[in-house]
Amino acid sequence: MMDLQAILDGIHAELLPRLGEGKVADYIPELAKVDPRQFGLAIATVDGQVHRVGDAEAPFSIQSISKVFMLTLALGKVGEQLWTRVGREPSGSAFNSIVQLEHESGIPRNPFINAGAIAISDVVLSGHAPREAIGELLRFVRYLADDDAVTIDEKVARSETQTGFRNFALANFMRSYGNLDHPVEHVLGVYFHQCALSMNCIQLAKAGLYLAARGSNPATGHSVVSPKRARRINALMLTCGHYDGSGDFAYHVGLPGKSGVGGGIMAVAPGIASIAAWSPGLNKVGNSQLGAVALEMLAARTGWSVFGD
Ligand code: DON
Repeated sequence: MMDLQAILDGIHAELLPRLGEGKVADYIPELAKVDPRQFGLAIATVDGQVHRVGDAEAPFSIQSISKVFMLTLALGKVGEQLWTRVGREPSGSAFNSIVQLEHESGIPRNPFINAGAIAISDVVLSGHAPREAIGELLRFVRYLADDDAVTIDEKVARSETQTGFRNFALANFMRSYGNLDHPVEHVLGVYFHQCALSMNCIQLAKAGLYLAARGSNPATGHSVVSPKRARRINALMLTCGHYDGSGDFAYHVGLPGKSGVGGGIMAVAPGIASIAAWSPGLNKVGNSQLGAVALEMLAARTGWSVFGD
């Protein structure tokens, strides 16, 4: 039996001198205020263990990691039809890039770049008022994490609404191509609130368990998606979960994962565990610098890479 706690403690000790590396996202004013010298790591295994180290109980803004949960909800609503609205290919572009959208007539490359996630918010919004769609997501994430303490940080949502000019541009652009059914303000209301979900590493690791365990949460017995759907969401995370850093993440870590500009990364070792890493400093492409390093160490020390040990 591997001593996971000892592995986590070792990674934490090695990274302590590096705390503060990277650059905190400053284009969302509320995120710019976060202390960069924080680091947390948590693992929830399919056989029911939870291990943690560092600031694993400190809530942070999960930002784009929410795109995995929204994709899961949207697939539940419209099934494979979703793929008429958004593609499944890596973009090779920045998360907020607009150029590809024009070439591809308003159909975003994948559900994890901003444009794709905004199209998905539009799908989840169908038949709801924005407030209800946000409530649906919050209930879903609480159910996944089996923790009602998960909240949405209204200050972060407001901060982004006031400064999210690029997201308004992306949404308006898609609306002009007929790829949004609802008013831009409503769709972005949902999008900004999903990004403002506030969770800690333990909650996030537990929320990702269904992706590690063939679609069901083994801790609660809750069935979330079919094994096939869990496998496919993992495939999308592996190929598209880190934007134009996805290839590099696969090369160094070798696990399906999704990052957010709050400095979080949720990663999945299929059949074994769900992992959440958090450190606010970002690398050049907007992914957590130390979060990725921690996951690289973890994958090397556990042999959990999907590409072999
Ligand atoms: O839309 C934005 O810019 C942010 N709410 C989310 C971006 C994000 O997390 C991209 N991540 N690396």
